[in-house]
Amino acid sequence: MTNYVDVIKERLDPYRLRHSLCVADCAKKLASNYGCDAEKAYIAGILHDVMKNTPPDEQLEFLRCVGVELTEVEKSNPKLYHAISGAYYVRNVLNIDDGDIFNAVRYHTTGRANMSLLERVIFIADFISDDRDYPDIEVIRKAAWESLEKAMMIGLDFTIKEIVGRRQTLHPDSINLYNELILEEKK
Ligand SMILES: [Fe+2]
Ligand SMILES: [Fe+2]
Repeated sequence: MTNYVDVIKERLDPYRLRHSLCVADCAKKLASNYGCDAEKAYIAGILHDVMKNTPPDEQLEFLRCVGVELTEVEKSNPKLYHAISGAYYVRNVLNIDDGDIFNAVRYHTTGRANMSLLERVIFIADFISDDRDYPDIEVIRKAAWESLEKAMMIGLDFTIKEIVGRRQTLHPDSINLYNELILEEKK
């Protein structure tokens, strides 16, 4: 089996490499806790930011090569590129033929409605991995072990407020996830 740690060692700076290893570790633990495939969670965690250090222009060129067209909202926010290009890198370059791993990488930044368990695990692991440090991190860390949905709501709330505060575009997938979580909360 390909050693995916070697793949990211080639592609990421030391900061992002450490982050990816921490996310993989955390994803494995969350997966075991919530009955998700721990090995898949580890692989998706290792690879979720595989394109994060690739210049935006190169990512756009790569996406053109694999035939992916971005929406206006996606084009407007270079921070969103790496989740999309990363998913196609995993599928088309590393030849990992697994739709769930593809989607876990693809939606790790925006989230989306109807996320699979693996997608949720990676989304949360990216917020609470050991390398992360921001105000209130312990609140979301604690929530993550009680309910993935509760942790997702806190994480998404944080992300949406940050985006709106910066007057950036908000991806429809994030809005759809937000609405889904709110509707579930009200049930
Ligand atoms: Fe990311
Ligand atoms: Fe990340």
